[in-house]
Amino acid sequence: MKALVYRGPGFKALEERPKPALQAAGDAIVKITKTTICGTDLHILKGDVPTCTPGRILGHEGVGIVDSVGPGCTSFKPGDHVLISCISSCGKCDYCRRGMYSHCRSGGWILGHTIDGTQAEYVRIPHADTSLYPVPAGADEEALAMLSDILPTGFECGVLNGKVTPGATVAIVGAGPIGLATLLTAQFYSPSRIIMIDLDDGRLEVARRFGATDTIHSGKEDAAAKVMALTGIGVDTAVEAVGIPATFELCQSLIAPGGTIANVGVHGQKADLHLERLWSHNITITTRLVDTVSTPTLLKAVMSKKVDAGSLITHRFTLDRILDAYETFGRAAETHALKVIISP
Ligand SMILES: NC(=O)c1ccc[n+]([C@@H]2O[C@H](COP(=O)([O-])OP(=O)(O)OC[C@H]3O[C@@H](n4cnc5c(N)ncnc54)[C@H](O)[C@@H]3O)[C@@H](O)[C@H]2O)c1
Ligand SMILES: [Zn+2]
Ligand SMILES: [Zn+2]
Repeated sequence: MKALVYRGPGFKALEERPKPALQAAGDAIVKITKTTICGTDLHILKGDVPTCTPGRILGHEGVGIVDSVGPGCTSFKPGDHVLISCISSCGKCDYCRRGMYSHCRSGGWILGHTIDGTQAEYVRIPHADTSLYPVPAGADEEALAMLSDILPTGFECGVLNGKVTPGATVAIVGAGPIGLATLLTAQFYSPSRIIMIDLDDGRLEVARRFGATDTIHSGKEDAAAKVMALTGIGVDTAVEAVGIPATFELCQSLIAPGGTIANVGVHGQKADLHLERLWSHNITITTRLVDTVSTPTLLKAVMSKKVDAGSLITHRFTLDRILDAYETFGRAAETHALKVIISP
């Protein structure tokens, strides 16, 4: 089969690889119908994720058809249409029993990281019963691919951890797919104001279309001063959806007393915490690796059109052209790419 293989920092190739085989009783082999590329795949290619070693097939998002199952997989059978979660979970360990699938003792974020991933014709899914979801009849497969990672990430790490409430004010720093997924799912709670902050005018325009009440280009304007001018006291929820020290510090300048800073970004460096100012502000800071516990809820929201997941898709490629898909996704400022769909 064809697969996109990580070949060490800066290198990747579309290669011919053997079709994966069942290894454990709970495994399923899934024939991929739609997959996509994540900002985290670009982090891996930059060498930021050393736990992902050369030779690994990338990708942790996708939809497909079950090809075969091991004797321990009882919820799915060959031919079933399934959504693949970016987090594999056994459902039985102490972390899974607490709903913290991201820290599953024999799972977590392993797909396209420490085991071969979804940017291929077939993928092996461990703990298939608890890591796959049935695709409802009539669902838009491409839109569902947004449920593997970005919608649960924006919702769990940004909206739920950030405690967005009706009438509250929200600032989201970073209008990439994750920041936009946070923007879409924050609207479940009817906040009075959602301020999006980014350096890319194109993405800020998308944010306004997706329901942002205000947008700030932080390269051209003083974002903290503008948020204070808009809100008087700062925002109740500040979501960090970039993953660099500057944007975590910006969130600390935007937060109102009593507010919550919800960090979503993957950070590779230490960042300053301004306790000399914030110690008396009654704030909360949260961090989270997505658990994908909200996937069934979000699946219903997508099916009932309460959230338009398909609106995040900008480009489509066949698997033979996945290198072009990476090129397009990697130059998002010029190509205006958000999510690119890849079909084997
Ligand atoms: N916590 C989790 O479980 C989890 C899961 C998935 C992704 N992530 C992380 O979330 C982050 C966002 O992901 P994405 O795919 O949307 O990334 P992305 O790179 O597509 O988007 C980041 C956005 O931030 C903007 N930006 C960059 N520097 C900025 C600055 N100084 N000020 C304001 N805006 C700035 C960029 O223009 C871009 O639009 C990444 O760090 C990613 O690794 C976390
Ligand atoms: Zn991802
Ligand atoms: Zn577990």
